[in-house]
Amino acid sequence: MPEIVRTRVAIVGAGPAGLLLSHLLAAAGIDSIVIDSRTREQIEQTIRAGILEQGTVEVLDALDEFSRARTVGHRHDGIELRFAGAGHRIDFASLVGRGVWLYPQHEALKDLIAARIAAGADLRFGVTAQRVEGAASDRPRVFATGADGRALEIDADFVVGADGSHSVVRAAVTGSQTGGYFREYPFAWFGILCEAPPSATELIYSNSPNGFALISQRSATVQRMYFQCDPEVDPESYTEEQLWHELQSRVPGTTLNEGPIFQRDVLRFRSFVAHSLRTGRAALVGDAAHTVPPTGAKGMNLAVADVLVLERALRALLLENDERLIDAYHDTALHRIWKAQHFSWWMTSMLHVAPDASDFDRLRQLGELQTVVESEAGRRYLAEAYTGWPLEGRA
Ligand code: PHB
Repeated sequence: MPEIVRTRVAIVGAGPAGLLLSHLLAAAGIDSIVIDSRTREQIEQTIRAGILEQGTVEVLDALDEFSRARTVGHRHDGIELRFAGAGHRIDFASLVGRGVWLYPQHEALKDLIAARIAAGADLRFGVTAQRVEGAASDRPRVFATGADGRALEIDADFVVGADGSHSVVRAAVTGSQTGGYFREYPFAWFGILCEAPPSATELIYSNSPNGFALISQRSATVQRMYFQCDPEVDPESYTEEQLWHELQSRVPGTTLNEGPIFQRDVLRFRSFVAHSLRTGRAALVGDAAHTVPPTGAKGMNLAVADVLVLERALRALLLENDERLIDAYHDTALHRIWKAQHFSWWMTSMLHVAPDASDFDRLRQLGELQTVVESEAGRRYLAEAYTGWPLEGRA
């Protein structure tokens, strides 16, 4: 016999989007259940990117003392673009009066999980969603299996797919598991975590003849760095010495502080937007709806922006029986999603060296970078997009 539970909103996926949505709904008096196939430890330990827009940090302030973004994270008021042997600072503070926070996503996830558990939320780990039925009806249902193999059915008023790029809910929304707009890139990022002091106070995005590198940070003693690599590369095929050589050769002008490398991973790049973000009483948010390459640092920020739009729409639908905002959800969310897709694609194509790039392509790219850094309008465009456009209902 399956366990059958009743809730107003069934949320599949305990990533930033699902947990934040559940938190905001609870504040509006709407109960939800969040399920995730992973364990809490797996969720809290998965290494993800680290930049939060100022607006995202302001949204996380709603967690009160549970959000450590402002205390453990670090505010950054600019980034450096490095190319053709020189560094150029994009000064966010003077250009747009806003900043970003370097605060790794898994730390934000720990905060969200702690806040939901403290609030007594129904949050279930190790529960795998199989499918959603009845999205066209008023009572959609999630069919899932618990860690012990027992069947679970969640009977809800609305189902939200916050279940990442391999979303199970997507099939119920778009009619297929994969339906969407895609772009693949002929490169990936080789990411490392190392024990060393920071090599720079702000992030360095470097376009070099050897390919792209990003020098990021985590703390006074741990650093995160990436370099452009072949997507098929085996992360174990490099010695530490080779990794330092790759990184160092791509940031001429800076001597990187080296130290033991204790984590390495290859991040594949993809741009994706689902054909549809909502059907009847099922909708997608975050990576289930779209993925972006990491160069623009938009992934988690875009998930938060989707959640704000959807949460307002669910409040209108479930508290006032007003369908206008849920009917508009697809278009409203896509407005920002496509802007962020463009920004992420633009940063990626401007900073990486494509394997088949001709001399013309390389020189044109340097011309593009010069155009951006030499013009206040160019720097401001980058600063506006990087720090984040105004969020729905919070402008
Ligand atoms: C990171 O620190 O992991 C990071 C920062 C900026 C990006 C991507 C990743 O654009």
